[in-house]
Amino acid sequence: MTDDPAARPADQPGAGLFITFEGGDGVGKTTQAALLEEWLTDAGRTVVRTREPGGTEVGVLIRDIVLHHRGEVAPRAEALLYAADRAHHIETVVRPALARGEVVIQDRYLDSSVAYQGAGRVLGRKEVRDLSLWATDGLLPDLTVLLDLEPAAARARLDADDKPFDRLEAERESFHARVRREFLALAAAEPGRFLVLDAAREPDALAAAVRDRVQSLR
Ligand code: TYD
Repeated sequence: MTDDPAARPADQPGAGLFITFEGGDGVGKTTQAALLEEWLTDAGRTVVRTREPGGTEVGVLIRDIVLHHRGEVAPRAEALLYAADRAHHIETVVRPALARGEVVIQDRYLDSSVAYQGAGRVLGRKEVRDLSLWATDGLLPDLTVLLDLEPAAARARLDADDKPFDRLEAERESFHARVRREFLALAAAEPGRFLVLDAAREPDALAAAVRDRVQSLR
């Protein structure tokens, strides 16, 4: 996977740092992204915090379809909608920030498509990954933090939140089990890019582990 010629890390001379957070729903990605942003900002870095789907105006419209449309969205259409959101977001937000030498901290990226559409919807890992690489002209993160949590524990956290479930969250446990397995397989295939953390740990301990790894990148 890492020797895929279409894929190259963002970390090239003059480039900023591209860090993504991945994992199932309810694992605490947003909390960890916010803690890392605070730490890097305090250290004097310019940080762009963003997310997929929905990191641009066009993306907000796409997010509404993929998460809240009532009724069927064919799996291939769903994969293409996430890829369209990603293509626009990377070209208009992420690449310009990296070119300015900034740090981009992003909730979810192409690994979410491979896990949710590739494994969850059973469209195939390679096809879905290739679609995202085409959409982004081959941009890979410098670091991907995978917050790993057993689906039942993640579901309990979402229940405690008391918000209505979106289309993906409402999927069955077997779907979320496939998603989790795929995230772990992706991390095992690219150990240099991934940091896998047990999301059941205390938020402060997780944040410290993320900081250690980010420090080793700079
Ligand atoms: P997220 O923004 O993390 O949800 P929330 O704001 O409710 O925490 O992600 C939205 C959902 O979209 C999530 O269930 C995962 C799914 N998703 C995919 O299926 N494929 C993708 O490529 C991405 C980026 C997200």
